Formats: sequence, C-alpha cells, structure tokens
Amino acid sequence: MIKKLTEGVYNVGAIDWDRTLFDEIVPTPQGTSYNAYIVMGREKTALIDTVEPYKFEELKKNLEDLGVKRIDYLISNHAEQDHSGSIPLIMEMFPEAKLITNEKCKNFEMDLLHIPEEKFNIIKEGDTIELGGKTLEFIMTPWVHWPETMSTYLQEDKILFSCDFFGSHVATSYTFARYYDKVYHEAKRYFAEIMMPFRTFIEKNIKKLREKEIKMIAPSHGPVFDDPEFIIKAYEEWIDPTPHNMVLIAFVSMHESTRKMVEYLSDALVSKGVEVKIRNLVSSDVGEVAMDLVDVATIIIATPMVLAGAHPNAVYGAYLVNALRPKAKFAGIIGSYGWGGRAADIIKNNLSNLKAELLEPVFIKGLPKDEDYKKLDEFANLIYEKHKSIGIAK
Ligand code: FEO
Repeated sequence: MIKKLTEGVYNVGAIDWDRTLFDEIVPTPQGTSYNAYIVMGREKTALIDTVEPYKFEELKKNLEDLGVKRIDYLISNHAEQDHSGSIPLIMEMFPEAKLITNEKCKNFEMDLLHIPEEKFNIIKEGDTIELGGKTLEFIMTPWVHWPETMSTYLQEDKILFSCDFFGSHVATSYTFARYYDKVYHEAKRYFAEIMMPFRTFIEKNIKKLREKEIKMIAPSHGPVFDDPEFIIKAYEEWIDPTPHNMVLIAFVSMHESTRKMVEYLSDALVSKGVEVKIRNLVSSDVGEVAMDLVDVATIIIATPMVLAGAHPNAVYGAYLVNALRPKAKFAGIIGSYGWGGRAADIIKNNLSNLKAELLEPVFIKGLPKDEDYKKLDEFANLIYEKHKSIGIAK
C-alpha cells in the first residue's frame, strides 16, 4: 500500500497487521508498520529507511507500483533491523544507490548487517543532499532510542522523518493520524516501552527540533502527524519531571494474602485522594504497566514469599521498572510470608537504577490481621504525606 504525504513524498513501507509482539517482550495489540519514505526531486530520488527483511516484498512491490526505477540515495536514520534490515536487499535492487548515514550508524550496520565499509557515505549534523527542488537535511537526534539515531528533514515541505522518535506500533490504512484518543494511547505505550529511559535526551532533541518549522512528522512506525504539535506536546507532557498524584501497585498473590493487602492499601490511598492503578504481574499486558509508569509518583511491588525469596513475576516486574527508569519519586515493597525470607532485599536489589526514595517495606505473616491493616493505614498515610511533600497531593 502506497501512502502519499505530499507531492513527491510517499510512504512505501510495510504494514504488519498481525504482529503481536516486538523485541520478544513488548505486546503490539494494534500490530505495527515499518514506514519507508520515497522523496522524489526533479533530478534525484531518495529512500529513507527500509523495512523488516521479512516484509521486503511489500516494500519492493510499493516501489514498483510507484514506478521507482532508480534510487540515488538510501538514507538510514537508525540501525535497528526493523528499519535497516532490508538495506542489503535494496542495495542489490538499486546498486547505484549511495548509502547515507552517520558514523555511529555505519558502525552498527557493519556489525549487524555485514555491510562493507566502502558502501557508506557519512554525513554529519546539518549536512544536506539536493534532489532538485527537495533538500534533505540531517539532524542528529541521539538516544531516541539508540546512540546513533538521527532524523531527516525535508526543507521545502517541512517534513521531519524521525524514525522511531514519535512513533507508535499501529497498523493502519490511514496515512495521517486520526482518532486521536487511540493514537495518543498507542504513542504513549510506545514512548513508555521504548523511549522513557531517555527523557533527558528527548528533552534536548525536542528543543533542537523546535528550532525548525515542522508541518509534518513522519515516523517509521504508525501514522504520520500532519498536526505535529499533537505528538510533540504529548512527549513534552510525558517527559515532564513532575509525576501525577498516582500510585502503581504491581502485584502477585498466590493464596490471596498479598491481594488483600493490595486491595486494602489501594482503598486507603483512594480515600486520601490518591489515584491508584493495580496491575497483576502474572496476567497484565507489560505495555499497560509501562504506561502507568510514565505518570506515577509511587511504585509499589507486592509479592508473596516463595522459596525464601520474592515471586519470580514480582522480580520480573521490578526488573522491568528498573530498566524503564520512570520518573517516580517513591517506591515501596509489601507482601506476605509463611516462615520468612528475603523478598524485600531481592526486589530492592532489582530497583537499583530507580532514583526514588525507597520506603520501609511492609511484610506480614500469613493472612493480614487487624494490626497488619493498621500498618497498611500508616503506609498509605506515609505515601500521601510524601506526595504532599512534592506538591502533588492536597
Ligand atoms: Fe523501530 Fe529502534 O527500531
């Protein structure tokens, strides 16, 4: 399917309607797309990024249907294989194409795709390529989400080809983002899973991009934004360092004791005006948990004691939190045990990246009793006071 953005600019990428998992961890309930863009000038033609190799035939057909006989420049914004994987196949199909990328991206692609060094033409920040009435400018946008990521800006049409930056895992026949609630949700999921650890870089990159007049943002996953402010403002909201007056309780319960603790703590927090999200770490969609992490001020991991330690799913939850490095200011561990163990220490050790104050864990023996519920009341009060101390609770 060919999607026209404007005169001479087309998305010739592939749509992966039934992809359900990315990187073998991230659920993609709306499928995804690997957008690749053809930019046709009066004299030259450029292809920006490619597709997953197993989708190459779709890219090839789109190029044929569009009547592309020659590609002068193949621009690679990012070395991850969902965008770079078909470069060798495109180079075979269009041997005259000059492969254009930055130095770091070249090094990755030599390792990941075994492309010989002599095939690369290295560009730097601000370099341009003339296609004839269409000028492509390269803007380094590192760490969204790899160190080599860059964007390509089409000066005349003011289109930013941002690769993963501002993307979303959505398979759609639409060219431009519509149904904004859905788009917001999927873009936030994508941000949470892929971009969240790189908030400082995102802030710098957005500041840099704001110096350009941008009429469209064309990422390499999901729809194109012809209202770029929508997605830029969403990113600015997600990277805002102030969290919401919200607690995520990510839990596992084997025999209901930990679940009772979770439900009691949740009620106690809600009664103080604190919003709560409860996610079962055995059955929850990892992407939904990640999305909660974008906003919450406090993260609680709740686990029963298993084999003298934490439940493996709770360890997995903590590991995930640690990897995503959310902005949360406080963290807590609660749970129930039968005869003791080291669950709190194990979870704590898995949260070492988190720049959050770790609250004193609350562990109880067996099914919670009156005195245990009192401890949870005190814990809820502590969280509420902590939220007040940073100005997010009344
Ligand atoms: Fe869509 Fe980082 O690849």
